[in-house]
Amino acid sequence: MKHLADNAPLKQLDEWDDFVATRYRQGKSEEEFRNYKTEANPTVTEFYRQNHAQQTFDFVLEKKAEYCSLSRDKKSIWEMAEYLNTLVDDSDPDTDLTQIEHLLQTAEAIRKDGHPRWFILTGFLHDLGKVLCLYGEPQWAVVGDTFPVGCEYSDQVVFPEFFAANPDIKIPAYQTEYGIYKPHCGLDKVHLSFGHDEYIYQATRKYVPEEAQYMLRYHSFYAAHRHGAYRQLMNDHDESLFEWVRKFNAYDLYSKGRERPKTQEILPYYEELVSEFFPSKIDW
Ligand SMILES: [Fe+2]
Ligand SMILES: [Fe+2]
Repeated sequence: MKHLADNAPLKQLDEWDDFVATRYRQGKSEEEFRNYKTEANPTVTEFYRQNHAQQTFDFVLEKKAEYCSLSRDKKSIWEMAEYLNTLVDDSDPDTDLTQIEHLLQTAEAIRKDGHPRWFILTGFLHDLGKVLCLYGEPQWAVVGDTFPVGCEYSDQVVFPEFFAANPDIKIPAYQTEYGIYKPHCGLDKVHLSFGHDEYIYQATRKYVPEEAQYMLRYHSFYAAHRHGAYRQLMNDHDESLFEWVRKFNAYDLYSKGRERPKTQEILPYYEELVSEFFPSKIDW
């Protein structure tokens, strides 16, 4: 039997980002919104099938132990961005943005709206965790909507029917409203499915304000920040900081398709911005 982890359903990692953007496209009619599942292309559907089936509680703990001790590497933010840019997929170099261009485009949209420097910086950092793909992690462990493990799955998570294949569904302790958690215990105590959000949060948390930490850590937690699910685990502090997660999400979703950033022109600004917050090298 072929192990699912060997499959890479998405031709490019960005296919998932594009799918999410389509789901939440502004001005979309209610009916279009409800039909997004059927318009989703088969590769995205297969991607979610793998993601929902294999992101178990044990898998999440294993990956957190592996990466969140940050003992793998020492690199500057720029070295990591350059490394991420080596992610070779089937994208078309004439029309598709490079990974760094996506980061710069998001950051530039935030800058144009006059937001604080730490917010602009967050735009630049937010997808650096996708280097997990270069570490050999399968797509389903790097991108995708994140969701709590160790408690019941909300039907507000996209493609909830695919959770039927997750071994955790057979563990009764994991399938109650609160699962292994206490009511309103706060998201910091909750394990989310593993991916690029948690990794970039862990790598940068010491250096950025708490609002930025939330933006980085929860930017793919759509069930919560767009659909209001999992309120039973959130505390008041989470609720207030999710305002920032939602503010950030608009830039992540809608900065795409704007003009290609003039990288050489704006690079000095971002070099200064990064060095304002980060030492020359950090632990990854
Ligand atoms: Fe992301
Ligand atoms: Fe992004």
